[in-house]
Formats: sequence, C-alpha cells, structure tokens
Amino acid sequence: MRNRVRRIFASVLAPAIVSFGCLGVVAIAAQTAPRPVPVPRPPMGWSSWNSFSNTVDAQIVMAQARAMVSSGMRKAGYEYINIDEGWWLGARDSKGNIVVDPKAWPALAAGERAGDMSNIVRFIHGLGLKAGIYTDAGKNGCSMSPDLGPKYFHTGSEGHYQQDFLQFAKWGFDYVKVDWCGGYGENLDPAVQYAQIARAIARAEAITGHHLYFSICDWGKNSPWTWGPNVGGSPADIWRTSGDIVAPIVAGHEHADRRASFTKLLSNFDQGIHPEAEHTGYYNDPDMMVLGMPGLNDEQNRLHMALWAISGAPLIVGADLTKLSPSALADLTNSAVLAIDQDPAGLQAVKIAEPQQGLQVWSKALAQPGRRAVLLLNRTASAHAITVKWVTLGLTNGAPRVTDAWTGKHLRAGDDSYTAMVPAKDGVLLFVSGTESPMTHYEPSGSQAASASRDAVLPQHPVRFMNVHAHATIARIQIAYSNPDSVRRYATLRVNGEVVTRVAFPSTGKSGAGYIWIQSPLDAHSPGNELEFSNNCERGLVIHFIAVQ
Ligand code: GLA
Repeated sequence: MRNRVRRIFASVLAPAIVSFGCLGVVAIAAQTAPRPVPVPRPPMGWSSWNSFSNTVDAQIVMAQARAMVSSGMRKAGYEYINIDEGWWLGARDSKGNIVVDPKAWPALAAGERAGDMSNIVRFIHGLGLKAGIYTDAGKNGCSMSPDLGPKYFHTGSEGHYQQDFLQFAKWGFDYVKVDWCGGYGENLDPAVQYAQIARAIARAEAITGHHLYFSICDWGKNSPWTWGPNVGGSPADIWRTSGDIVAPIVAGHEHADRRASFTKLLSNFDQGIHPEAEHTGYYNDPDMMVLGMPGLNDEQNRLHMALWAISGAPLIVGADLTKLSPSALADLTNSAVLAIDQDPAGLQAVKIAEPQQGLQVWSKALAQPGRRAVLLLNRTASAHAITVKWVTLGLTNGAPRVTDAWTGKHLRAGDDSYTAMVPAKDGVLLFVSGTESPMTHYEPSGSQAASASRDAVLPQHPVRFMNVHAHATIARIQIAYSNPDSVRRYATLRVNGEVVTRVAFPSTGKSGAGYIWIQSPLDAHSPGNELEFSNNCERGLVIHFIAVQ
C-alpha cells in the first residue's frame, strides 16, 4: 500500500498547483511520500475517586503512587496519579486563592509548607509519574451532595477559571479533570463553559510553560463528542460519554458493600462509541475503569480491559492499587492489549457486524497497514460461535495471520473468515494481520483553486472532495497533508454540509508530508458524498489528498 500511496502522492504534487495562503493545496518542493504521523495517545493512570471517594489525602495518594511503581504499572505505561473530588473543601483566601486543609496535605519533605499542593506533586513527580487534579465547571462542585461525609459548597471554579487553572499549573499538575455538578445545577451550556476552561488552561500553560492535560467530565450531557475535539483550541482532550459505572466503594466506610455492575460496564462501553470524534488525539471517555474492584469476576475484568482497549478509552484505573489481585494486574499490564488501546493511529473500534442480536464483531484499525484488533463479543446468556469475515475488516481474502491478543497464540483461520466459540457474556480478543483492500483516492476538487485576489475576499478556503463513494456507513479516511509549522493546526470537517468534527494536524516538519486517520459517517445511499475541510485561515496547513476505505 505504501508504494501505491507514494505513486499517487507524486502524481498529485507533480503539476504546478495554484497556491494561496490558508488551508488549501500548494505545490511543495519536497515530493516525499507522506509518512504516518503519530497522535497523542489516550491517558493511562489511576484516580482516587472509585476506591477512596471524599476521603482522599496525601497518605492515600503517596501509597497509590508507590504501588503504581512497585506493581510494574508504571513500567507498563501508566503515568497519571489523579486526585479527584475531596481534596479541597471550598475555602479561598481574601484574594480568591484556593486554600486546602494542611492536615490532609502536610509538608512531605524538609522546607515544605503544609497546605501547599505542590508538595504532593513533587512527591508524585519524584517517582517518575505525573499528577492530576480535579475541579468543577460550576460554582459548587459535587461535594454539595457528597457520597461520603459532610456537604461542602463552593468547590467549583466558576468565576475563577483563570486563577484556578493557573494555580494548578503553578503547583505543577499535569492533568485536570473538570466535573459538571455545579454546571448542571446552574443549567450552564457545557460547550461554552468547557471552551472557556480550555482557554484558561492555554493561558496557564503560556504563563508557566507547564502542560495541563484536559479531561472533560460532563457525563455526555449535550453530546460532548460533537464539540469536544479541539474545544476552546485544546490540542488533545477527553470527554466523558456517560454517568459513573459505579459510585465509590471505600473499604471500611458506608457503602463498602456496593458492587460494580457488569451490565452498567457494557452500557458505558456502548455509550462511549462515537468513532467520528475519536481521532488525532481526542478520545471518548466511558469512565474510569472498575477492573479489580468488587463486583467483577476474572472473566469480566478481562473483558472490561478488552472493551476499553478496543475503544481506545483512557485507561484510568479506579481500584486500590495496593490490593490488586495478580490476575487483575496481569490484565492491566498485558503489553499487547495495551498496545491496542495506545495505537498511534488513535482510532476507535467500529461495530462491523451483529449477525444475531447480542453477537457482535468489533474492529479497531491499527496504525500498521493491514492490522486490526477484533473483539468477538457475546452479550447473550449462552455460548455462541461468532465469525469475523475479512472483507468486513477491509482486508482482502487470503489467509491473514490471526493471534489471540492476550497470549499471542497463533490461531488457524479460513480463507475468508475466522470463527470462535465465545462463552456467554464474554469476548474473544484477536489480532488479525492481512492485506488492506484497496483504498479509493480523491484529490481536492478544482473549486478551491483560488486566486490571490479571492484570498483577500474569502478568508476561508475550504478544501473539498467531491463524489466520495461510501462502502460503509463509517468510512476510514487517510488524510495526507503538510503542516511545516511546529504547532498543530486544525480544520473543521463537514460531510454533505453537516459539521462532523474538528481534526488536528500535528507538525510534519519543514519539508515533507504526513498522514493521519479519521473515521467519518458517509451516506451509503448518496451517489457521491462531499467532504469539506475548512479553517480560519491557519497558515501553513495543506491538505493533499484523502484515501477512503
Ligand atoms: C462525578 C464524576 C465522577 C467523580 C465524582 C466526584 O460523579 O462523574 O467521576 O469525579 O463526580 O464527585
């Protein structure tokens, strides 16, 4: 396939092409084949909420951070230690600065001041890990109706966005989760609030030089997958797509007998599937994992990992890391399964077949050409055979190599399919490596060959691809582009006039070109779809061609 792309790329660039300043098509000197551009991966880490609720303090966080290292999770790629609700009880000083309980957050090393959150950040960083913090987009946070303990008000950042996010960055945090309890109570618009927050984060980053990863937690209200990608200019972010899988289970406290529900786990997985929004560093977040918590058996834990990995979900573990069973730890650290989640193409699985209700075939296209992660998912109450056909994966017939993703064991496959017996309410996770079926290449339509004078009149120069044929309702699309700047550029994708998403284009370096992947809904009944990329005249970004499968 690489050769084919190279040939087509050369033919696209060979003629002298009209050039103009904004997004568009320009002739570039270096006619190299586009190379794959890796995109930011879904975050991996731990959060205090599921197992400690509002009881979180420095002792708990230190023990969990140490366990992330000693368990081998850090080595497997987990990096964030995220402090969730309960760290702050709503107090501010006369200048509006957040004030925390010095007993919960004491000095941890000589020369430190109790009540300074940079102490715990330093400790976490000292272990080679990153630190996450939490607030709410409204005035009050979720502590106004707490899971455990007394009510606390004013634990939100509304009215203090600039101040609080700057404070988080100054403390040294690397990640911030922003909840929606207050925003929901005040009937605010999440798209508006989270855009303001993203801008406050960008400002804090510019002032401190410290990056804060943005985690949006509005439980899927107002469809964040439609506005989450690049909200407020964010270069990478995640957004929750549903409510919590389970309320906290805190050993020795009220509700310690709660159990995580397998049914809710599956429904969170379903609600997290929005493949058109998951690309170029933006991810749907079906909630923190409950793997290893009370309520799930070993098979369910393993399926949980498979579901989160195939959907490219953030892997934020909610269990008490000091108490993980060997099998839960093995699930969480299986390198092949983690590689599915962390694949550099950054796409989400798509359901490609459901031959009978509850018998499903999910496929995640991986960065390596011809490679797929496939989940044969049996949601019914009895064992069933489930078949995956190569053609539905976008692979040619022949005998692709099929392996069990967990063990690496080679499995004998047919010329056009593979069938496995899948136990009731369980799944079989596979790697399939074969040959891509040909992709159809489309060059930009002539309409965007704007002249310099038109450039002045029309600040936006959409790049259009006409008569794009749909093979499936969700098409996998490779976008070849150049972005010589060191910063990411962005473009809005419209399909048949409707906005689908915002796509990020990482730098491709001064010369040369790259490609990224998206998945877009196309109208399979239309004689030809129209795809349009537009931006606000972000200089330097050039889209060369798209290839559609
Ligand atoms: C909401 C979020 C949870 C957690 C709690 C804290 O329920 O969805 O992930 O942050 O708030 O109260």
